[in-house]
Amino acid sequence: MDINFSIREAVKKRYSVRNYKEQEVELDKREAIESFVNSLDNPFGPKVNFHYLDNEEMKNQKKLGTYGVIKGATQYIGTTIKLEPGSLEALGYELEAVILYLANLGLGTCWLGGTFNRKGFAKAMNIGEDEIFPIITPYGYAANKKHMKEVVMRKMIKADHRKEWNQLFYKDNFQLSLTKEEAGDLEFPLEMIRLGPSASNKQPWRVLLKNNACHFYEYKEPGYSDRFQYDIQRVDMGIAAAHFDFSVKEKGINGYFLTTCEPEVKLPDHMEYVFSWIRE
Ligand SMILES: Cc1cc2nc3c(=O)[nH]c(=O)nc-3n(C[C@H](O)[C@H](O)[C@H](O)COP(=O)(O)O)c2cc1C
Repeated sequence: MDINFSIREAVKKRYSVRNYKEQEVELDKREAIESFVNSLDNPFGPKVNFHYLDNEEMKNQKKLGTYGVIKGATQYIGTTIKLEPGSLEALGYELEAVILYLANLGLGTCWLGGTFNRKGFAKAMNIGEDEIFPIITPYGYAANKKHMKEVVMRKMIKADHRKEWNQLFYKDNFQLSLTKEEAGDLEFPLEMIRLGPSASNKQPWRVLLKNNACHFYEYKEPGYSDRFQYDIQRVDMGIAAAHFDFSVKEKGINGYFLTTCEPEVKLPDHMEYVFSWIRE
């Protein structure tokens, strides 16, 4: 996979678009999107499958709903995986690559993990039964104005707000916050994580910098994932990995991901180790 656009620009451009113009995405852009999707890979291993739903198929389907959350969209991309270790993170990583690619093309998207009719879309997209279907995104041109429900939703989840550095990034242990100065050339990749999207904007990513490695943890909101058969906040962790990885690569900082490198530190409640990035 080749990220040939500015990460900072794409991360800044991206936001959840819930109101779309009825203008279809041009064929050449759709072909470019599909070839980008075909080139994807991820550092976690498991395969992520992508499913497209376009205008014509949409017209013939009833029951394709998002409970009034998404308006005007006629095109969607769905993602499916086998439920196995690392697959939710892989999905987060790969779909966020696509979402940033779309932002770079001037197209809006919205991660949907809860507010869509899963059965209706699964049927329309021919999704097999041995896979789970955690996420779908509409894509297209953003309407000029946000719809009412969208404005209310954004306020409720404080969608424009992000936690500060001292709530997210740590040095050596979870008692010490990491300053931007201490982060050095990792300031930019960490800042890109901070600006990322997450389910209900809960921002569960925590990073501990210790001995030349960044250890990624999930602050697991008690009860939050109970309505799913999987931990949806693992998708957020994959998004963080994508923002971090694309940023270090853009800056020429070398390193690799591992899931078996948990350091010995005292963990605060509800904190779970997920993976590490080791600097080379
Ligand atoms: C894994 C995941 C699942 C999400 N599920 C939904 C959803 O079901 N419905 C919705 O309207 N927004 C959903 N969102 C969007 C978030 O609410 C949004 O990213 C967050 O509030 C930050 O706002 P922003 O994307 O505009 O920066 C989801 C985001 C992620 C990352």
